[in-house]
Amino acid sequence: MRVAVIGQGYVGLTGAVALTHQGHQVTGIEQDPDRLRALREGRAPVFEPGLPEQLTAAGATGRLRFTDSVTESHRRTPFDIVLVTVGTPPSADGSADLTQVDAVLEEVLRLLPAPCVVLKSTVPPGTSAMLAETHPGLRERFAYNPEFLNQGSALEDWAVPARIVAGTWSESGLEALRELYAGVSAPWVATTPSGAEMIKYASNAFLATKISFANEVAGMCCGPDIDIDHVMQGVGFDPRIGHAFLQPGLGYGDSCLPKDTNALAHWAGTEGLATPLLRATIAVNDAQAGLAIQILRTELGAGLGDGPGDDLADGLADAEIAVLGVRYEPWSDDLRAAPSRTVVPALLGQGARVRVWDPGTDTGTTAGLFPGARAAASLPDAVEGAHAAVVLTEWPQAIEADWRGLAALLDEPRLVIDGKNCLSPEQMHDLPVRYRSVGTRLPPSAVHSGASRRADPRMEA
Ligand SMILES: NC(=O)c1ccc[n+]([C@@H]2O[C@H](COP(=O)([O-])OP(=O)(O)OC[C@H]3O[C@@H](n4cnc5c(N)ncnc54)[C@H](O)[C@@H]3O)[C@@H](O)[C@H]2O)c1
Repeated sequence: MRVAVIGQGYVGLTGAVALTHQGHQVTGIEQDPDRLRALREGRAPVFEPGLPEQLTAAGATGRLRFTDSVTESHRRTPFDIVLVTVGTPPSADGSADLTQVDAVLEEVLRLLPAPCVVLKSTVPPGTSAMLAETHPGLRERFAYNPEFLNQGSALEDWAVPARIVAGTWSESGLEALRELYAGVSAPWVATTPSGAEMIKYASNAFLATKISFANEVAGMCCGPDIDIDHVMQGVGFDPRIGHAFLQPGLGYGDSCLPKDTNALAHWAGTEGLATPLLRATIAVNDAQAGLAIQILRTELGAGLGDGPGDDLADGLADAEIAVLGVRYEPWSDDLRAAPSRTVVPALLGQGARVRVWDPGTDTGTTAGLFPGARAAASLPDAVEGAHAAVVLTEWPQAIEADWRGLAALLDEPRLVIDGKNCLSPEQMHDLPVRYRSVGTRLPPSAVHSGASRRADPRMEA
């Protein structure tokens, strides 16, 4: 098939590459001149494991090209199918901003009846139906086909999707999707476009709910003899539950879960629908980013002043804080909703002096993201002289670091907040640091010998 993919971000570019490898003739359409230039030079403008190699291989087939105009490209040789993969970022009120989608569809609808239009961007239920009301001919040439890829395994998710959701009104729409995904083995869910739009939001809302649930349980694992890791391991082995998305932390912070949960709640609100569970999920998540600040205030208040909270009752003035990790996950450079974006400004706002280290983000980008903070060149550079280190990303470089050496560089009270529960509790409890995680994590010795009910191992210096 001759395929256009409009919007060469995480979804569109990985899709263009994957569809080329499937044998299609693909044109990636991108309006951002810097992204387009990079693509034409064979460079991937977004980070995704394996993408540079796969992009080169796809380019070598001669079936992948990039341009900035779907209309001109279509005029030269008509497309069979046009995929829309532009962004739907959050608006200030939490709703999905459909400006990019509207602009693209306006252009693409002028190309009808030739290509089939496949909308993949995440949009609120009813969006496609509203479009069809104003463009009745669209019903025969349209599919809403949500994308479920995970950043970090996006190419694999395109090649072997967990499911293909086909929201169509017509046999011809469904047939176009079947041809697009010929050779891809996955269960199909054929439904209406509105149903498909709801499937996408409901999936992300459920994943977000799992994370908020794990965080709420972590909050209950605050005694010295309930280990949150053991609890979630035990819960997740139930095949009805599974281990995915049960890791506690400082809240979900990839680019999709915060925006999609908020957009769904906003949409339900405008429809007059009650969503108490979804709203609770969001509320737990919003509070979770504040946990690091809360621990810092409690622990540093006692550690820096003459007594608990003396110096820092109104903030974190005089505190030197090392933030270890800008990214939400090491395998994605998508920083749109990373917890660092909330935590670092909050620390600065409370008067702390902040150094930020991230081995996957250059110091210029880090400095630009966090005016007022210092971009540290290395882990020791970040930690030296800091009262506390806050781990926000499970970087292997942080997990495997010489924490004995780093502990020696920290200043009293040598607090380490593990916002990803990724450091070894055994190692951390053995060091002269105050180790705090999200919920209690016990060293194996405490489990086997039976920990005291009174002493909280997280607080041991
Ligand atoms: N990123 C993910 O992990 C993921 C996963 C599943 C679904 N989604 C959804 O897929 C959609 C795309 O997400 P993304 O992360 O790839 O977004 P993105 O912001 O990374 O990419 C969108 C791209 O579209 C380009 N664009 C915008 N308007 C254009 C136009 N008129 N012509 C050509 N190019 C245009 C932008 O310049 C940008 O490069 C969103 O709705 C998102 O919610 C994202």
